Amino acid sequence: MLQLGDEVTLYSVIFVVVLLGTRSAVWTTALTVSLYVFVAVFRFPQVPADRAKQVLHPDRGAYGTGKVSAIAHRGGGHDAPENTLAAIREASKNGATGVELDLQFSADGVPILMHDETVDRTTNGSGPLTKSSFSNLRKLDAAAKHRLRRQFSEEKIPTLEEAVEECIRLQLIIYFDVKSHPNEAAAALKALYKKNPGLYNSSIVCSFEPKVIYRMRQSDPDVVTALTHRPWSLSHLGDGAPRFTSPWKHSWMTLLDVVLDWAHHHLLWRFCGVSAFLIQKNFVSQDYVDYWAQRGVEVVAWTVNTKVEKEYYQELLQINYITDSLVEDCDPHY
Ligand SMILES: *[C@@H]1O[C@H](CO)[C@@H](O)[C@H](O)[C@H]1NC(C)=O
Ligand SMILES: *[C@@H]1O[C@H](CO)[C@@H](O)[C@H](O)[C@H]1NC(C)=O
Repeated sequence: MLQLGDEVTLYSVIFVVVLLGTRSAVWTTALTVSLYVFVAVFRFPQVPADRAKQVLHPDRGAYGTGKVSAIAHRGGGHDAPENTLAAIREASKNGATGVELDLQFSADGVPILMHDETVDRTTNGSGPLTKSSFSNLRKLDAAAKHRLRRQFSEEKIPTLEEAVEECIRLQLIIYFDVKSHPNEAAAALKALYKKNPGLYNSSIVCSFEPKVIYRMRQSDPDVVTALTHRPWSLSHLGDGAPRFTSPWKHSWMTLLDVVLDWAHHHLLWRFCGVSAFLIQKNFVSQDYVDYWAQRGVEVVAWTVNTKVEKEYYQELLQINYITDSLVEDCDPHY
């Protein structure tokens, strides 16, 4: 019912905008109808709701009430060096329902866990991943910059496959965060799902880039997916500071932010057929959760790092959240 309302609003807006631009009723009608047909033909349906539920509200882990999942961000970057096997084990030990892991590629195309495009922030090496072969990356100390590096010496950058095996062994749900490389990521993940079919019921592929999600579903429509979004992300950094000093550029990016936000909430989620929407926690309210629930989409909040906040999302809103620490309050890691 509401979905019909969505469509009417969407195509009315497009109709009016095109009409103002072209001033031709024939062209406007033709364009609007073409867009409608295009979306209807090329969109992906959501995976069955019961399978999405298994991934988002599993009956497992210390929080395994079938209700709210607590997901360790980058494996729980506050409690252990992010995106390492040690972090995955620590998250499991501390009762996480699952882990969020970042997928990147070495220069020679090996899928690995890494958040940034360079190794500088987390390891004792330097330079971009596009310039480092896997064998060189493997020599680095993945705990070098962590506050608890003494407890986690000998930690290496894991391959995607090693990390997934560890998660399966520990029965952790996996939120794969894919930043870029849509084609390579879709191929690597597809191979992984074929090799470990249990992942269809225990993992979700997430991205800020609709293109990544669309590509993933093209290569394997059975994978559960989510779009990740932070309103004003084009014009502002994670800490709220403006991204650009030029006022012209700032205004232009702010306008694009409005368009992107609108597209996420009205068009892209349907086009990609996502089962969940991962949004920066400050934008989540009961109304917001209801908006998505009416569309069969779950809201997941990130990054929720204090006890008081966790209680709010867990008890009041009853939605999943992604956190940097399962054990104590900490500052967000952007
Ligand atoms: C980084 O640390 C590892 C382990 O201690 C060491 O083997 C390696 O040589 C170091 N690499 C650099 C570039 O410092
Ligand atoms: C996933 O769960 C469904 C039940 O919803 C089950 O029928 C199916 O066999 C499971 N698939 C795998 C690969 O475990």
